Amino acid sequence: MKLSESLASRDERFTNTVIQMMRSQSYRELVAAQMFGYGLQFVPDRKLLKFMAWHVQEETTHYIDVAKLYEKHVGESVEPWVHARIAQKPMTFAESWLELAIAQWLYDRGGFWQLQEYEECSWEPYQTIVEKIIKEERGHQDLGQKYAVELCKELDDMTEAQGMFNKWLKQGLLSFGRPKTEGNEYAISVGLKKRDSGEVMKDFMLDVFPAIREAGLQLPPIESLGMEFPDDIPWEL
Ligand SMILES: [Fe+2]
Ligand SMILES: [Fe+2]
Repeated sequence: MKLSESLASRDERFTNTVIQMMRSQSYRELVAAQMFGYGLQFVPDRKLLKFMAWHVQEETTHYIDVAKLYEKHVGESVEPWVHARIAQKPMTFAESWLELAIAQWLYDRGGFWQLQEYEECSWEPYQTIVEKIIKEERGHQDLGQKYAVELCKELDDMTEAQGMFNKWLKQGLLSFGRPKTEGNEYAISVGLKKRDSGEVMKDFMLDVFPAIREAGLQLPPIESLGMEFPDDIPWEL
C-alpha cells in the first residue's frame, strides 16, 4: 500500500474504514454488472436488450470508477481483493426474465439507497464519486420495478414469483450491512456516512411497499430472512 496524502494524513481507523467502503462498493458494482450481464440471455426483446445492456455498461463504469479511486489513494489495485471476495461469496444469478426484473427492482435499489448514505461523506474524494454514481443509479430505479410489477400482475399463480421476491428482497436488504454495529457508529461519528444501517433498511422497505402491493406480492415472515433488523422496521403492507 502506498497511501495518498488525503488518506495518509488521517488516523488508521479512518483510513481502514474508507478502504473497506471502497472495497465493498467495488464488489457490489462488479457483481451487479456480472449479474445483469448474465441476465442478458433472458431479455425478451430488443428494446429491453438495449436497456439491459446499457445497465450492464453503467454498473461496469461504476466499478471502474471506484477501482480507479482505490488505486489512486491506496496505491494498489482493488481487483485481487474483489476477485477473492467473489470467489468466496459468489453472487446468485437470476434465471429468468421475471427474476431478472425482480432482481433489478430490489437488488439495484438496495445499492442505490446504500449509496445515498455517503452523499455527504467527510472523505471528499469518495463523496465526489458517489454523487456521480447516485445520479446515474437514479435512472435505473424505476424500470426494473415497472417490469417486475407488470409481469407479476399477469400471473395466475404467484408461488414462483413470491419465492424470487423473497430471495431478492433479502439480497437488497443485505446491501446495508448489519444495524447497530460498532463500525457503523464509528463511520457516523466521523461523518463518513449519515445514518445507521437500520435506518436505511426502514426507508428502503417503505420505498418498496407500494410496488409490492401493486404486484400482489406478500412480505415473507421476517424471521425467514435470517437477518438482523431494527425493532421498528415496517413489516406490514
Ligand atoms: Fe451501480
Ligand atoms: Fe444500478
